[in-house]
Amino acid sequence: MVTSATESLTCELMDVVRLFEGASALGISHTFAVRGEEFYNRFIIDGEEFAFTDWERYAGETEKKSLVKRFAKLGLYKLLAKRYKKTLPWGSLTGIRPTRLAYQNLEKKGEFEEFFRTLGVSEENIALTKRVIAGQRGIYEKNPDNCDLFVSLPFCPTKCVYCSFITAPIAATHGYMPAYLSALEKELAAAAGQIKRLRSVYIGGGTPFVLSPEELERVFRAVAPLRQNGCEYTVEAGRPDTFCAEKLDLCQKYGVTRLCINAQSFSDRTLEAIGRKHTGEDVVRAFGMARPYEFDLNCDLIAGLTGESLEEFCASVDRAVELSPENITVHTLCLKKGARLKEETESLFEGGMSEMIAYSRKKLTAAGYEPYYLYRQKYMAGSHENVGWTKAGKACVYNVDVMEETCDNLAVGANAISKKIFSAEGRIERVGSPKDIPTYLAKVDKLLAEKEKIGFGETLC
Ligand SMILES: C[S@@+](CC[C@H](N)C(=O)[O-])C[C@H]1O[C@@H](n2cnc3c(N)ncnc32)[C@H](O)[C@@H]1O
Ligand code: SF4
Repeated sequence: MVTSATESLTCELMDVVRLFEGASALGISHTFAVRGEEFYNRFIIDGEEFAFTDWERYAGETEKKSLVKRFAKLGLYKLLAKRYKKTLPWGSLTGIRPTRLAYQNLEKKGEFEEFFRTLGVSEENIALTKRVIAGQRGIYEKNPDNCDLFVSLPFCPTKCVYCSFITAPIAATHGYMPAYLSALEKELAAAAGQIKRLRSVYIGGGTPFVLSPEELERVFRAVAPLRQNGCEYTVEAGRPDTFCAEKLDLCQKYGVTRLCINAQSFSDRTLEAIGRKHTGEDVVRAFGMARPYEFDLNCDLIAGLTGESLEEFCASVDRAVELSPENITVHTLCLKKGARLKEETESLFEGGMSEMIAYSRKKLTAAGYEPYYLYRQKYMAGSHENVGWTKAGKACVYNVDVMEETCDNLAVGANAISKKIFSAEGRIERVGSPKDIPTYLAKVDKLLAEKEKIGFGETLC
């Protein structure tokens, strides 16, 4: 339990506490003071007192606030690292976008490495961040006219036990499908007047391929007028148990350029344990079906799936590399509220995680992949990260834009968040749509008005 002088700092310090197994049982209180360029932090942990003083120049209140947060988190991180005799791969950094922080420092100070070192980030992760920034060269772009389009299809065949994405089992929600598709058509028709320069389209989920070919074609037809510039077009097809030639033909007919066929693991034992209704061989078969179409392919893996050994994880990485997709995304298991596994799992501090991550980096690098996007979440096993790896020239624009928040995102459908980016002002306006399908259906017109209010639609004459 942590208590700090302000509520926002309490939340930030709680994020640091969560990084250390057992630390939530400690009684921690925190106070701070700023005098000129001096930042004082005082912690009392189970009755014992610790104090730190740090110095840094700042310009204005916003910078001062961010330094207050930085030094408080760093102070607590150092204390807990000493107490538990372990350092963490990202040090005191708990935000979900380490690369954004790196870019901010690069822009201000011409470097980020020294800054990351002061936060306790490992040399391996500083090197990884550098590679990601290099991998984004030519894609990372701040242009207020740019926009990505996200189409949300939050339906799945069945729910995987680790997943906290709000998706509805298709069998229970199919009755809503005609109305849902009509709502998407309405939002997409309006999007024509809301997008100036389309960078990419992403049809995501859920599992978009759980829709029937006819339903899928309605979505493709509604997207088609918006995507007349041949830009990147991803369909997060999803699980191989939903694949068929007819859906792949439709993807080709409507100009899809990138397809996700996600394994998570190639171990049948693991796949059964996590509630995926397919085998490793089914993934291989789906790759075989998709290959003749010349889509760029992506395969998602997760490190740290419950009960999976280091050897099983490494074998999954090897298998994915053999299939030679253009992109491989290595996630670290993260358990949020809503995932069945969360209720059944006591702790995420599993052994073997660092070895898994190290193996994936080494193997993918040796196979010619480069990291091109990176993000973190709260409650990640071993405090690691998710990394998207790509073959040369095949990085996914959409993933970079979303992670770096450099580009507007017009999102349609239930459980979708539209973002209008005001880079020059350092501001982002958001409109989130309801997660629940009937509530979303009842709110479509209101959502269109809300998106216009935050600036979508004002760019066109
Ligand atoms: C929105 S999901 C959609 C993928 C698609 N439905 C499928 O399962 O093939 C995108 C990816 O997030 C990852 N993911 C989902 N839940 C996760 C969790 N709890 N921890 C780590 N990664 C997770 C999985 O790798 C998944 O493929
Ligand atoms: S991992 Fe994919 S298929 Fe499984 S529940 Fe989540 S979104 Fe659905």
